[in-house]
Amino acid sequence: MKLNGAQYRSVWREPDGAIRIFDQTLLPWRVEILRLTDAHQVAEAISTMRVRGAPLIGAVAAFGLALSLREDASDAAMDATATMLAATRPTAINLRWALDMMLAGLRNQPRDDRVAIAERIAQDIADDDVETNRKIGEHTLPLIQAHAAKPGPVNILTHCNAGWLATVDYGTALSGIFQAHDSGIPVHVWVDETRPRNQGALLTAFELSGHGVAHTIIADNAGGHLMQRGQVDLVIVGTDRVTRNGDVANKIGTYLKALAAKDNGVPFHVACPHSTIDWRIAQGADIPIEERDEREITDVTGQAPDGVIARLRVAAPGSPAANPAFDVTPARLVTSIVTERGVAAASEAGLLGLYPERKAS
Ligand code: MRU
Repeated sequence: MKLNGAQYRSVWREPDGAIRIFDQTLLPWRVEILRLTDAHQVAEAISTMRVRGAPLIGAVAAFGLALSLREDASDAAMDATATMLAATRPTAINLRWALDMMLAGLRNQPRDDRVAIAERIAQDIADDDVETNRKIGEHTLPLIQAHAAKPGPVNILTHCNAGWLATVDYGTALSGIFQAHDSGIPVHVWVDETRPRNQGALLTAFELSGHGVAHTIIADNAGGHLMQRGQVDLVIVGTDRVTRNGDVANKIGTYLKALAAKDNGVPFHVACPHSTIDWRIAQGADIPIEERDEREITDVTGQAPDGVIARLRVAAPGSPAANPAFDVTPARLVTSIVTERGVAAASEAGLLGLYPERKAS
């Protein structure tokens, strides 16, 4: 993606192995690029959500593991670092997937070769994510185009942030929206603010503005009302884990949007790279749901009129809060799952139709 006229990815590696990321806790107010030089800094960046989004945390963790091997390439150190990185966030399977790819490629290799091998695999994971998301966009395009014959723009609702900031580049849910816009289809995006951390209002809106895509930020509770009024043509969201039967974990609140979409006959599409499908889990009820700090509910972070980024309490003093960060949308509410290989029904048969090699697994 382009930022201030320059081409960037959301993560990249420097010749000495250090990793560069955007500090997403400061966006959209300040664009600050961080340099991470050891795996502990990488783990901190993931758990505090300086980097976030399922595919991105997988790629960043892979680079982080590669970085740690420069200090100690023994099996024991490698396993301990992978365990530490995997523990940073539990719901997005991409994190575990990327670390498993790294460990599988490194396990039986001589210690002296491990840094070079790890850096190559991590780079492959990042490059694959970019190409995967570009293809997801290509497969999403006809789903958007199908609504373009009517007067006015195609109105798409999205939840959370599944644009380039959540991936290495392009995004998943937003990839097709960017491609539709670039190909001249008039699109307008309803952006759920996505409490508690407001990834929609802050990050998705920032990305859409940067690309010149028309959009409107709405309260999380507004989607159902807009659907009843015929103001949403389709919903496109990303996902943190899809189970074998097509159940979809995504940012908290996604399930309610899917219910409203079903009730109003609005197609509900899920953009999902191969790295997000968890073939080992049969159904969504078995997905671990991240519980985050209650201060994300009781407080909000924003920019004060004097430009200072500040945190403000918005809840009654002393009241406790609960903060489940993801929910599971059952497959029966999902119209389709869009992957880099094409569009599938949200079911085991649908997914296996695109990934026949997984039949035995
Ligand atoms: O908690 P976050 O900000 O990491 O959650 C991100 C989401 O829920 C995204 O929608 C999801 O990771 C899909 S990203 C392409």
